[in-house]
Amino acid sequence: MNLRITAHPAAPYARARRVAFTFEGRTLHGYEGEPVSTALHAAGVRVLSRSFKYHRPRGIGLTCGTPSCPSCQLTIDGQYGVPGCATPLRGGESVRRERAWPNADHDLLGVIDRFSAFVPAGFQFRLFRRSPRLAHLAERAMGVIAGGAREVTPGAIARAARPGLGRRRTALAVVGGGAAGLAAALSAADAGLEVALVDQGDDLGGTLRAETAPVPVPGGGDEPGFALVARLAARAAAHPSVEVLTGSTALGWYEGGLLPVHTPEGVLVLRPDRLLVATGDYDQPLLFPGNDRPGVMLAGAVQRLINIDHVRPGRRAVVVTADAHGYAVAAQLRAVGVEIAALVDVRPQTAVGTGVVAPLEVPHLTGHTVLEALGRRRVTGLAVRPQDGGRAVRLGCDVVVVSAGRRPAEELLLQRLYHGDIMLDAAPGQGVGEPPGGVGVAGGAAGTTDPALALAQGAEEGARLARWPPRPEPLQPPWPGRPCRPSPSGGTFE
Ligand code: FES
Repeated sequence: MNLRITAHPAAPYARARRVAFTFEGRTLHGYEGEPVSTALHAAGVRVLSRSFKYHRPRGIGLTCGTPSCPSCQLTIDGQYGVPGCATPLRGGESVRRERAWPNADHDLLGVIDRFSAFVPAGFQFRLFRRSPRLAHLAERAMGVIAGGAREVTPGAIARAARPGLGRRRTALAVVGGGAAGLAAALSAADAGLEVALVDQGDDLGGTLRAETAPVPVPGGGDEPGFALVARLAARAAAHPSVEVLTGSTALGWYEGGLLPVHTPEGVLVLRPDRLLVATGDYDQPLLFPGNDRPGVMLAGAVQRLINIDHVRPGRRAVVVTADAHGYAVAAQLRAVGVEIAALVDVRPQTAVGTGVVAPLEVPHLTGHTVLEALGRRRVTGLAVRPQDGGRAVRLGCDVVVVSAGRRPAEELLLQRLYHGDIMLDAAPGQGVGEPPGGVGVAGGAAGTTDPALALAQGAEEGARLARWPPRPEPLQPPWPGRPCRPSPSGGTFE
C-alpha cells in the first residue's frame, strides 16, 4: 500500500513538484516543500536515527512537539543535526542518518542497549571520579558514540557568526502563532497596538493547522481547524500593525525585559512593552516498555502527517487513548484508509463517558493497560491487558498512536518563575500564579486545550493588554511590588 494519500476527504492539498534526493547512496523521491522526514517515511524509511546513549532506534513522531525533538536529526548536505521534520525538501540533497555504525538500520553500537543496566544515567561521573584522565578519555569516546563530537562545518560557522539584527522596541510581543496567539495579535492590533508575532513554524496556525475537526467560531457556526487558522493567519499577514516573524524562536525572556528572537536572518532582540505567551502545549507520551519504538507516535504528529503532509503513518494502527482526542484521531486515520486494529482506552468504562465522542465501528477496549510494544527495529504489535486482571491480548499493527493529554509549553513563564517574578500556586490550585499586569498567557500555555476557548482567551488577553497603560520604559523586571535583588546571571538588575 502506498502511504501517500491521494484523495484526502477533509483537507485539500496541492502536490508540489516531484523531486529526487540521495539517501545513503540510494535515490529516493519526494515532493518539493514537504519535510525531509516525511519524504523518508513515505519512502519506507522507519528508523530515522538512533538514541544518543543506548542507540535505540528512533522514528518519526515519537517526541514531536517537544523542544528539539531529537528523533529526526539528519545529516543533510554534510551538515549535522538538521531537524528533518523542519527542513523542506528541495530536491538534489544528500541525506544521511546519524549516531549509528555502519548504519541506523543495523547499528552495531546498539549492543550498548543490551548492557543498559551497567551504564545508568551519570555512570561516568561515579566510575571515573578518581581518575580525571580516564574520565576525559571516556568523555571523548562517549562524544563519538553519541554523535556529537563532529567536525564543525564552514556552513555552521558562517551561521553562528552572522551579525545580529539589533534591538527593537515593540508595543506587544506575542510568542506563539497558534489559535490563541493569532486571536490575541489581531485583537491587540485592531485596538491600535504595534504587534510582533513570533512563531517557530514556517506557517502560522500551530496545532490547529493539522486539525480537520470543526471548531466553533465567534459569532456562530464552525469551521475546520485548519481553515480557521489559515483565515486568521492571512488576516495577520495583511494587518498593517502586525509584524509576522515565522521560522523564529524566542530564545528566552531576560533581565531588562529583553526577548531575543532567533530569526532565519539572525538574532533580533525585542524589548516589548507588553508580552503575551501563547506557546501552546505538548502531547504527552504514555509509559510502557517499548514506547520509543519507531511506529509509536504521538497523536499530534500523526495528525500533522495525515492532514498536512498527506502521508499515512502506516497501514494498521492501534490507537491508545486517555482522552476524547484519541477518538477523533482514530476517525481521521480511518477516513484516510488506515485500518484501526483497536481503540484502547486506558480509562475504565465508567470514566469514558457517553456523548463526548462519536461511536467508531472498530474494536474498542476500555479499562486496559498497555503491557508493551512488540517488535525490535519497528513496532509490530501491542500487548494490552484488562486492568481488572483478565488475559493479555496481542494486537498486530505497524503504528501505535498515543493520545494521553497535553502539557503546557510554559518554558518562557518558568524562566521568570525561576527569577521570582511569578509564583507557582499563588492561588491554591491555580498552577502558575497571576503574571505581572503587562504580561498575558493564553491557549495551551495556560492549560486551555479547547480550541474555541483558546481563541476566546487569546482575543480577550490581546484586548486587555491593549488597554494596559503604556510605560515610559519597556516592560522590565522588577515589576511593581517585587523586591530588587542581585541577578544570579550577572544582569544589571532583577
Ligand atoms: S520533530 Fe521530527 S521526529 Fe519529532
